[in-house]
Amino acid sequence: NGKINIAIDGPAGAGKSTVARRVAEALSYVYVDTGAMYRAATWYLMKHKISPENVREVLQHVPKMVIELKPDPSGQKVICNGVDVTVEIRSLDVTGNVSRYASIAGLREHLTSGQRRMAERKGVVMDGRDIGTTVLPDAELKVFMTASVKERALRRFKELREAADITLEQLERDIAARDKLDEEREVSPLRRSEDAIMLDTTQMGIDEVVDTIVSYCKTAI
Ligand code: C5P
Repeated sequence: NGKINIAIDGPAGAGKSTVARRVAEALSYVYVDTGAMYRAATWYLMKHKISPENVREVLQHVPKMVIELKPDPSGQKVICNGVDVTVEIRSLDVTGNVSRYASIAGLREHLTSGQRRMAERKGVVMDGRDIGTTVLPDAELKVFMTASVKERALRRFKELREAADITLEQLERDIAARDKLDEEREVSPLRRSEDAIMLDTTQMGIDEVVDTIVSYCKTAI
């Protein structure tokens, strides 16, 4: 069908999801937000009061979790065992705990196999932390998107401003802490795949980043 798979990885708040969604739109590809899947799993496990330290219990619940991403005019809906959790998974509570659950190998395997299935027929733009290294090592185009911690915190702050009671300094600390957990975990840590194109977006606007990736895509086909 002439389509390729595109992997977009990078640290928290680099703008991956906005950019990945827009790239998918521009190419008529399917956007897959893998962070939303880790968030939905976190929401589910927290709702069942299962701590990330209790790996045995987490693994008992993993096979029961069915996480779906559904296209929707307002973006993408995230459904966990039939419940629409699109809004809940963005809470500070879920955000603050997701990296702890995401370090559990058995949970990652479960979500990774679902992600691979979604990309089987190509034409997918997938964003996350380990897409280029682990989930889709054969993706035809890999981009590693970064920006300084300060810039990423500022972007998140502008996004949240009215919604949350949090300072820019606190956001900066939260983002740095999440990066550290994601980079230092043993299974599939956040890391640039050797064949990924590095894109530092600190000084770039969204349109510019989208256009750059779409142009890479044209050369990758
Ligand atoms: O992308 P987002 O910030 O929504 O991801 C939330 C968290 O999910 C990350 O901080 C990371 O701990 C985890 N994650 C992951 N692997 C992915 C995507 C997300 O471990 N592919």
